Amino acid sequence: MTDPSTPPASSTPSAFGSHHEQVVFCHDEASGLKAIIAIYSTALGPALGGTRFYPYATEAEALTDVLNLSQGMAYKNALAGLDLGGGKAVIIGDPGKLKGEALLRAYGRFVQTLNGRYFTACDVGTFSADMDVIARECDFVVGRTVEHGGAGDSSVLTAFGVYQGMRASAQHVWGDASLAGKRVGVAGVGKVGKHLVDHLMAEEAHVVITDPYEPAVSALLATHPGVVSVADTDTLIREPLDIYAPCALGGALNDESVEAMTAQIVCGAANNQLAHDGIEKRLEERGITYAPDYCVNAGGVIQVADELEGFDFDRAKARAAKIYDTTLSVLARAKAEGVPPSIAADRVAEQRIREIGRLRQVYLPKG
Ligand SMILES: NC(=O)c1ccc[n+]([C@@H]2O[C@H](COP(=O)([O-])OP(=O)(O)OC[C@H]3O[C@@H](n4cnc5c(N)ncnc54)[C@H](O)[C@@H]3O)[C@@H](O)[C@H]2O)c1
Repeated sequence: MTDPSTPPASSTPSAFGSHHEQVVFCHDEASGLKAIIAIYSTALGPALGGTRFYPYATEAEALTDVLNLSQGMAYKNALAGLDLGGGKAVIIGDPGKLKGEALLRAYGRFVQTLNGRYFTACDVGTFSADMDVIARECDFVVGRTVEHGGAGDSSVLTAFGVYQGMRASAQHVWGDASLAGKRVGVAGVGKVGKHLVDHLMAEEAHVVITDPYEPAVSALLATHPGVVSVADTDTLIREPLDIYAPCALGGALNDESVEAMTAQIVCGAANNQLAHDGIEKRLEERGITYAPDYCVNAGGVIQVADELEGFDFDRAKARAAKIYDTTLSVLARAKAEGVPPSIAADRVAEQRIREIGRLRQVYLPKG
């Protein structure tokens, strides 16, 4: 029988139509678990990427998301210089209604079946405490709580990395990495945005923020009385800004926002900022330098990946600081090759996957 929610065959995504190595569907009826784990590439090492717990309208929507997200993680991990491939998982359903010990542990058992080909972590709808529960059934979990030897809240180094990416962008555009006196607009002052504002204020930038969640705004203004808040993102991007930092949802850079934008640099934490193909060219035409999202927001994955060596905050921070050099080299390559920075970032990531992945062809005898 055809499920009426199933989209027509032509719009159904196919794991075989992508370049993924492995896609696993996991089902535990009793707990209500329906999950898909997608491994895009293990050329550089085990795939690492978070578990998104989200009420997808259809299975097709969930599959599309996990295929895109896992590919994105392969590129992000490669560009960040990690010895990790790219993967991601989605759990279908409303976490507020479905999430519980049995479901999370069932999920953990499925991740365990992959025997280390995929390491999971937090994403939208999952938290460090959930990773602790998953880890009771599974050895391949990072992003656990500090009490359980984990790296804790990854937004700390995500924000630090974005800040480094911003300094590198300033160096590229203005010949000086200093952000002192620059007007920076931050859209979204949640976990990452608020830490980013701390760095900017410490460097004496002028910061303008917006967030529809009023408690987040008032908490930030109480900490930093010098920060100015505006009503919404539309207003923010039209303010006279030097730098715009999207730190809320994906798709922030669309036809309308790019036309209206006053900033010369876009550098923020949000994933998937380019709303559609071609926007990166429009940014260039308008003279706006775009620091690729997955280049500058890699601090979080760098933080949780450090758990694989026994978490050490200072070591992880030193690694996240290298986002400065990576961003500079991506922007330089874009200029040299006459392509937008997002294309240059893809080329660097693909080159590393190719060159370092190839080394596995060199036979190493066991023992
Ligand atoms: N947390 C991490 O370590 C991490 C790592 C990499 C990428 N990211 C990405 O960075 C972004 C922010 O992550 P977060 O962890 O801070 O999330 P969060 O949910 O803590 O914060 C997002 C904030 O954006 C606000 N917001 C929602 N819609 C908005 C709008 N239209 N305009 C302005 N603000 C709006 C929300 O009210 C919230 O305060 C997300 O896109 C996330 O995927 C986060």
